[in-house]
Amino acid sequence: MAKTRTVFLCQSCGYSRGKWLGKCPECSEWNTFVEEVVARATKGGGGLRVVSANSSEPTPITEIRDKTEKRTSTGIGELDRVLGGGLVRGAAVLVGGDPGIGKSTLMLQASMAMADEGMSVLYVSGEESVGQIRLRAERLGEMPEGLLVWSETSVENIEAKATVLKPDIMVIDSVQTIFSEMLESSPGSVGQVREISAKLTSFAKTAGVPVFLVGHVTKDGAIAGPRVLEHMVDTVLYFEGGPSNFYRILRAVKNRFGSVMEIGVFEMKSSGLTEVLNPSEVFLQDRPTGVSGSCVAVSMEGTRPLLVEIQALVSPTVFGVPRRTVVGADFNKVLLIAAVLEKKASVTLTNHDIFIKVAGGMRINEPATDLATALALASNFRDKAIDGATVIIGELGLAGEVRSVVMAEQRVMEAKKLGFKRCILPKDNALGLKRIKGVELIGVATLREALDVVLGESSVKG
Ligand code: TYD
Ligand code: MG
Repeated sequence: MAKTRTVFLCQSCGYSRGKWLGKCPECSEWNTFVEEVVARATKGGGGLRVVSANSSEPTPITEIRDKTEKRTSTGIGELDRVLGGGLVRGAAVLVGGDPGIGKSTLMLQASMAMADEGMSVLYVSGEESVGQIRLRAERLGEMPEGLLVWSETSVENIEAKATVLKPDIMVIDSVQTIFSEMLESSPGSVGQVREISAKLTSFAKTAGVPVFLVGHVTKDGAIAGPRVLEHMVDTVLYFEGGPSNFYRILRAVKNRFGSVMEIGVFEMKSSGLTEVLNPSEVFLQDRPTGVSGSCVAVSMEGTRPLLVEIQALVSPTVFGVPRRTVVGADFNKVLLIAAVLEKKASVTLTNHDIFIKVAGGMRINEPATDLATALALASNFRDKAIDGATVIIGELGLAGEVRSVVMAEQRVMEAKKLGFKRCILPKDNALGLKRIKGVELIGVATLREALDVVLGESSVKG
């Protein structure tokens, strides 16, 4: 039996030490040391190797029987949709999100629904006592017998118990509160999170039990610690707050068993999360329609497309130097867009104050929202509303050209998902895309062309 011990490894260059160091003596990087379990090889070599939990023999690909095909419904339609049509046997699913967003509620609701269908569900919480979980469950509805709740924080205990109980589904809430006895570092540290996730993922694979791992997102958006979990699990779901406080969006960031283009929308009510079956209605609700100066853009946040409303107000300057006020976007970028509008599309903003606001407290910083900003300004300047079911995608060049953007398909799909019917996008992107049912794609090559399409010919003079 190989003896286990731990070392601290630099995540940047692989340098190892018996104790934690702030700065790596090898590559001079700071804060890169993470505790990891290693086993000393029993014979020969004498090197270190990382413990791998389940080893099997190499098998000819033709003899492998696919056991993952059957999908189990979680009892929550929107969750199934994001998972790619239900849970796959042995899948490890990470559910990430800000604290308080409703991860535990979603998992408990799904657990209750699955137990209600006759499955045995083991819900392990390292955050709440069983009493607290019961209190929450009482609010959520009928409590089924097949749901086992357990307050436990040792991953070794969890593994042992789960192996005996053989539940159909297991939920771990959250990875930051569970720890491995093999490591000395505290729960929630990168080493711990990685170790326990590796253990639980390999348990899911060997036992064929789908495991949900709940993880809190740190402020910079990464699941603590720095995204270490994402590559280990099969599916990564993020639960985020929508434009208004009660709406929640669940989206897949990675999915080995399905597409990452689906999103699930929920509303947080006093009786828990309810599915929002027609999200477009919900998102259009807050937005003024038929009002000039409002425009919907699609911004990629990392790998995630996000629809944002850009509002513009243009009013004649009463005295002195015209004001430019920008909330939620880059100030200089707005100046640049205003200059292009003036020079290339005869929208004379010189003696006007300009106000730009991204609705819902959102911040945008992406080139693909340029055209939308320009059209919002032009719309308010001409006092002509932009059609409410249209989204605008495109980067604006100084020559007034509309430049193509990355991930155009994802953007259009997101707009479609949220109920938009028309999409103004760069010509090159429009040509490169296949027909998308339900969305009219209009390719534009210049700002003038875009103004023409969106605000009508009469608005383009000279
Ligand atoms: P929770 O699932 O505990 O969040 P997380 O696990 O992501 O930290 O959700 C907590 C919030 O949800 C809390 O602010 C209260 C609210 N909530 C409701 O509004 N209705 C409900 O029925 C429940 C259970 C929670
Ligand atoms: Mg919680």
